[in-house]
Amino acid sequence: MTVRVPAKVNLQLSVGPPRGDGYHDLVTVFHAVSLFDEVTVRPADRTSVVVTGEDAASVPAGRANLAARAARALAAASTRRGGRSAVRIEIRKRIPVSAGLAGGSADAAAALVACNELWGAGLTPPELREVGASVGSDVPFALLGGTAIGQGRGEQLTAALAAGTYHWVLAFATGGLSTPEVYAACDRLRARAAAQGRASTRGAGGAASDRAASSAGVASAAAAAQQPRLSTELMAALRSGDPAAVGPLLTNDLQPAAVSLRPDLRRALNAGREHGALGAIVSGSGPTCAFLAADARRARELAVSLTSAGVCRAVVQVKGPAAGAAVVAAERR
Ligand code: C5P
Repeated sequence: MTVRVPAKVNLQLSVGPPRGDGYHDLVTVFHAVSLFDEVTVRPADRTSVVVTGEDAASVPAGRANLAARAARALAAASTRRGGRSAVRIEIRKRIPVSAGLAGGSADAAAALVACNELWGAGLTPPELREVGASVGSDVPFALLGGTAIGQGRGEQLTAALAAGTYHWVLAFATGGLSTPEVYAACDRLRARAAAQGRASTRGAGGAASDRAASSAGVASAAAAAQQPRLSTELMAALRSGDPAAVGPLLTNDLQPAAVSLRPDLRRALNAGREHGALGAIVSGSGPTCAFLAADARRARELAVSLTSAGVCRAVVQVKGPAAGAAVVAAERR
């Protein structure tokens, strides 16, 4: 059973204060794009994972692999699978790893859909999304696809009213970023900004504010972060289907943190803007940068310009919204 699953970008990522469980409440607008991984599952005596393609060596194999975890979670959640639960999982990767494109979550979503079909488990889409949420915050969206608002830690979804097709250029960076590290950097930057704000109202200097920032830690990050809020302006622009209206409204609260960990991203973002992108953002926790273009021709030109500017490892041109995880082939045994 073979399933194709898309990468995502976040058109808005509004991050709230850290929660007690290690996650952050957020409001995000997910948008699936036409960069796909393919996952094939076959009955086997024991579960195993084989990865080929983009960044294959950096995908964890074995039990830690998100697709393998998803298959086990589905086996545990399913009562109608007829006793079969081991699968050989083959992942053909085109979505880079640790790139802010939810590639690992995509593979987990694909494994859920594939195993649900292979085992005849009969879980409904909402049931699959619930199992997916136990594997990772972005898994439910990889199942749903399209454009959708995510709340909670990203797993609570509402389909968004969005018109038209959007043309993107994704600029891949060399190396990846760890999502937990980017969220932690976001908390630190917010704590520091809050402490500096307090110190400047007292007239104190930078050293005092830095000390305050490091001692205040996560508690002051919580105080400094606003509750996340959906951009009604962005939603209106998406309903209009006009990329020129959407571009300037793209926002990502994790961008300053990603750029602080990877200052070279600033060059890529600037190059995209200089070469006519309507919007330029870090995708999710990065380091991939996503550039919105007016149409397919301008996206192609932008891709060429970014390549010759030498500001990234590789570029791909994609379209959104793309469909969520779906079966593309089923072999008879
Ligand atoms: O859910 P997932 O395993 O994909 O999340 C990876 C990490 O990203 C979490 O362990 C957490 O550090 C961070 N995260 C967060 N808030 C979210 C989603 C993810 O802090 N809403």
